[in-house]
Amino acid sequence: MAIKFVPEKNLFILTTQNTEYQIRADKYGVLKHVWYGMRTDCDMEYLLDYPQVGCTGSIYEAGNDRTYSLDTLPQEYSCAGVGDFRISAVAATHQNGSSALDLRYKTHSITKGKYSVPGLPSVYEGGRSADTLEITLKDTATDTEVTLKYGVFEEPDIITRCAVIRNPGSAPITLTKAASVCLDIRGGNWEWMHFHGRPTMERQVERVPLFHGIQESSSVRGTSSHHQNPSVILCETDCTETCGSCIGAAMVYSGACQTAVELDKLNQVRLIMGIHPELFRWELKPGEEFNTPEAILSYSSSGFDTLSRNFHKIIRENVCRGKYKLSERPVLINNWEATYFDFDEEKIIKIAEQAAALGVDMLVLDDGWFGKRDDDCSGLGDWFVNKSKLPCGLDGLGKKIRALGLKFGIWIEPEMVSEDSDLYRAHPDWAIIIPGRKPMRGRYQLVLDMSNPDVRDYLYDSISRIIRDCGAVYIKWDMNRSICDRYSHCLPPANQGELSHRYVLGLYELLEKLTTDFPDVLFEGCSAGGGRFDAGMLYYCPQIWCSDNTDAYDRAKIQYGTSFFYPVSSVGSHVSAVPNHQTGRKTPIETRAVTAMAGSFGYELDLNTLSETEKEAVKEQIIRYKKYRHLIHNGSYHRLSDPLADNYAVWEFVSDDKSEALVHGMVVRTEPNMISCTVRLRGLAPDLEYRLDGTEGVYTGNALMNGGILLPETVGDYAPVELHFVKSEE
Ligand code: DGJ
Repeated sequence: MAIKFVPEKNLFILTTQNTEYQIRADKYGVLKHVWYGMRTDCDMEYLLDYPQVGCTGSIYEAGNDRTYSLDTLPQEYSCAGVGDFRISAVAATHQNGSSALDLRYKTHSITKGKYSVPGLPSVYEGGRSADTLEITLKDTATDTEVTLKYGVFEEPDIITRCAVIRNPGSAPITLTKAASVCLDIRGGNWEWMHFHGRPTMERQVERVPLFHGIQESSSVRGTSSHHQNPSVILCETDCTETCGSCIGAAMVYSGACQTAVELDKLNQVRLIMGIHPELFRWELKPGEEFNTPEAILSYSSSGFDTLSRNFHKIIRENVCRGKYKLSERPVLINNWEATYFDFDEEKIIKIAEQAAALGVDMLVLDDGWFGKRDDDCSGLGDWFVNKSKLPCGLDGLGKKIRALGLKFGIWIEPEMVSEDSDLYRAHPDWAIIIPGRKPMRGRYQLVLDMSNPDVRDYLYDSISRIIRDCGAVYIKWDMNRSICDRYSHCLPPANQGELSHRYVLGLYELLEKLTTDFPDVLFEGCSAGGGRFDAGMLYYCPQIWCSDNTDAYDRAKIQYGTSFFYPVSSVGSHVSAVPNHQTGRKTPIETRAVTAMAGSFGYELDLNTLSETEKEAVKEQIIRYKKYRHLIHNGSYHRLSDPLADNYAVWEFVSDDKSEALVHGMVVRTEPNMISCTVRLRGLAPDLEYRLDGTEGVYTGNALMNGGILLPETVGDYAPVELHFVKSEE
């Protein structure tokens, strides 16, 4: 068992291969957080400090003991209203209008296997060994109970957390906050890294020192958002890719999220992560319970490289599901940047013919194939083929595509409706708008109320009909606006505050049904690019379109940020045309290819417009990607540079048996008389000898990891880098 309870000390010890997490129910029943870090095999309580701090207050039972304060001691799940004045994890209003919870230890259980979260995605065992700890706490003055759940995966050093809040009493209570994680850290000098951005520049890395007070990274957009990803790293100031302490946390949730970090008066750090309280009120009637979404935690004492690998493993192998989770993804051609809305059957077939000739596996028909949809002002919701564009229908097109030897996939944006659509005319009350108020329009579209079962039924019927009719084996599931004007016709006025979370629950229910009923279909997530790139969506869609920015140089930076938590296989990434449609930049086709290969690879242009030399290059890239695909998706991934700071962006894939390594990337700017760049590899076997493909060079793993390798001389800007090392047989 990875979980131990020491009764004489009321101490819970959660142990993974390298890390340890300790919790104690103290003499007052208060659940204290004692330790999260490397394994110590020692009760770490000795590090807790009991200073006298003015103006904080002690719990009633502590009498005049001014050193015992909820406001200074590390808490496992901090409550609002009872004297811990730092950020709280949970807040509830009782029938008499008071808002307080004072949770104390009641009971616990330790079981083999990993818990699941009803109605929500969560990490599952998937062949790994995992154990569950549940600690139930009870409010001192009411019947309210909270069960904290911990899933412990010894390998790869992962602990998951969530909470269940229960109302066994006779009066309703209203939850106003229900976080998934509260983590208090004592000692050390901490900074935080978060992943901010905007559409077409998602997940930019920002690492900053903590200031005293609360800093947060959050989304109130109804999706996890382009702007602040629901993931965070706390790291000590000296932490680098390869050394130093860091803690990562990622939500398995796709809705409004808040990650708040407080540096308190005693220089202690508190991390609170969960559903954003601004969009959350939840009525718990007598006998009901509320399950928070799950968060994944990992600790590394050897820097970000190890931390990321832990997250890559658990998300790829124990969050992603279905036929495609580990299997090879098709190389696809998507027509969006080739045609936008301006296409007909002939154009699509021409693109498909060329793609088939060059070795592509699948054609994906993007936006514009349905309803009245010649631009983005109308048609969403009318999921019936537009016969003026596709006279043979979707089934006819599907057949023609398959006759060319390609699989067929299709774009859809289920959660949306255009005002100018038959669906909206028939069901205006299905859209999220506040009666009597003009709605905000995003891309001229409104959001459907996913908490409404009729909406979900309509979407299930539409999507399953499309899949059956045209034999689609891939669905690109898009979502192109943020949610506001929150009002649901299905909820009474007092419960409107539940809509934000109920929307996400409805979305998950629909995805669960579709992915179960169509196990052979590969679902790719998308939200105006990478606006909903999170572990929640990855539970249903093993890959997500990473960004609408397909410029190789920008993509290297976006994929760099994405790589801190999310595995390479989850990153949808395509080669597009130059000048790039988003930036106007020209990068060599080889650079675009190596960048897109750090993901689930494809093309997003009309291949007919390429020169013969470029077509040959595409053919060869597809062969090369297929040769390396196993290494890229199943190997370990290492960031070898910081593209936000360095003149080169390079990354490395190493096979599990360490017999092979592939370095890909680009030199950003070539200078005259250039000082050569040395890159140190990682993850190799120190004593093995590696041959650099295409050269006579043989190097030991030690040489490549400690000394490194010179990047080849380059010509021009954004010059591609590819170095393939294989174990030398000599
Ligand atoms: C946004 C997506 O990110 C694009 O790839 C494309 O599918 C468009 N939507 C279509 O409207």
